[in-house]
Amino acid sequence: MKAPILIFGARGQVGRELMALAAARKIAAVGLSRSEASIADNYTVRSAIDTQRPAVVVNAAGYTAVDRAERDAEAATAANVTGPAILAAACADAGVPLIHLSSAYVFDGLKKTAYVETDRVNPLGVHGRTKAEGEAKIREATKRHVILRSSWIYGVYGRNFLRTTLRLAGERDELKMVADQFGCPTASVDLAEAILVVVRKLADKPNTSGTFHFAGNGRTTWLGFAEEIVRRQVLFTGRTPKVTAISTAEYPSAAKRPANCELDSSKFATAFGYRARPWQERVAETVAQLSARARIAEAKSEAKSSDTTPVEEKPAELKESDGKPPDSKTAETAS
Ligand SMILES: NC(=O)c1ccc[n+]([C@@H]2O[C@H](COP(=O)([O-])OP(=O)(O)OC[C@H]3O[C@@H](n4cnc5c(N)ncnc54)[C@H](OP(=O)(O)O)[C@@H]3O)[C@@H](O)[C@H]2O)c1
Repeated sequence: MKAPILIFGARGQVGRELMALAAARKIAAVGLSRSEASIADNYTVRSAIDTQRPAVVVNAAGYTAVDRAERDAEAATAANVTGPAILAAACADAGVPLIHLSSAYVFDGLKKTAYVETDRVNPLGVHGRTKAEGEAKIREATKRHVILRSSWIYGVYGRNFLRTTLRLAGERDELKMVADQFGCPTASVDLAEAILVVVRKLADKPNTSGTFHFAGNGRTTWLGFAEEIVRRQVLFTGRTPKVTAISTAEYPSAAKRPANCELDSSKFATAFGYRARPWQERVAETVAQLSARARIAEAKSEAKSSDTTPVEEKPAELKESDGKPPDSKTAETAS
């Protein structure tokens, strides 16, 4: 049997998307959730790699609660620094390449144009700092790494800005959204595809390595992102809430977020021959998928006369993908 891709953090939004895409493509993949394998546990990580003998390891695990990280630096460090260091050392010893996900939050957001890979990192908070340190640990431990920095990830799985906005659009008549932070909404399905493209390249050219930006195609603000989501959901729900602009200053949160998270993905496109689709197209598809899923769940629940929910909703807080929801009392529990 061909060696599988071994995915840590397989129950996160990117991990689930990647597992689903690998299954659809009939690519062998083994996914481990946090409860099955914590990346911060050296013994567990090494046992998993010894057992699976993977062709490549993907680290889709991470501490993504940006605001909570400010008061729980220890947990953020365990997942974003210690975990990647352990994975990288274990991969180096096993002679296996590592694909790792990082974030635009390693930058301070002061640049006026899109960030390229050679720009200096200067994180504003604990989350960005731990992501930057995790990258550095990987570079130190193994040459055979591909670090993909992304931003504003959303999709049909897990908690993310698109799903939060859809829920709020169903509940409220006005959504207030931050209009002075810029980024590239990245569909988890585009990122999962990009990871598989890297996996293929590593099979052909095992020496492929480096840091690359991979984000959705196009730039907008949280306001623009929300407007697009709301525009697309009207078709399915008939609801037309107003989307109003607010500034970052009007929505204080524990962590300072970079005003500019735009990533230039051209280096990735040149190296791997793949670019994300325009972000608006992916938003349309994702809203349609979630609406179809909700309708099916509704029909099933009517049939069963029970109130089962179609998708898991973990009672977590806003993550790095989450923008500013309207007039919430606390950013961390708003979604
Ligand atoms: N979301 C974004 O907008 C965004 C943007 C740029 C980069 N990224 C990066 O992309 C990666 C995936 O993000 P995502 O959006 O898929 O995040 P996610 O939905 O929060 O998933 C992360 C997963 O990692 C797991 N995890 C946390 N600590 C772990 C540990 N010590 N060992 C093993 N698993 C652990 C989490 O488990 P629990 O749920 O049990 O905690 C969760 O299942 C992360 O590295 C993130 O920093 C995300």
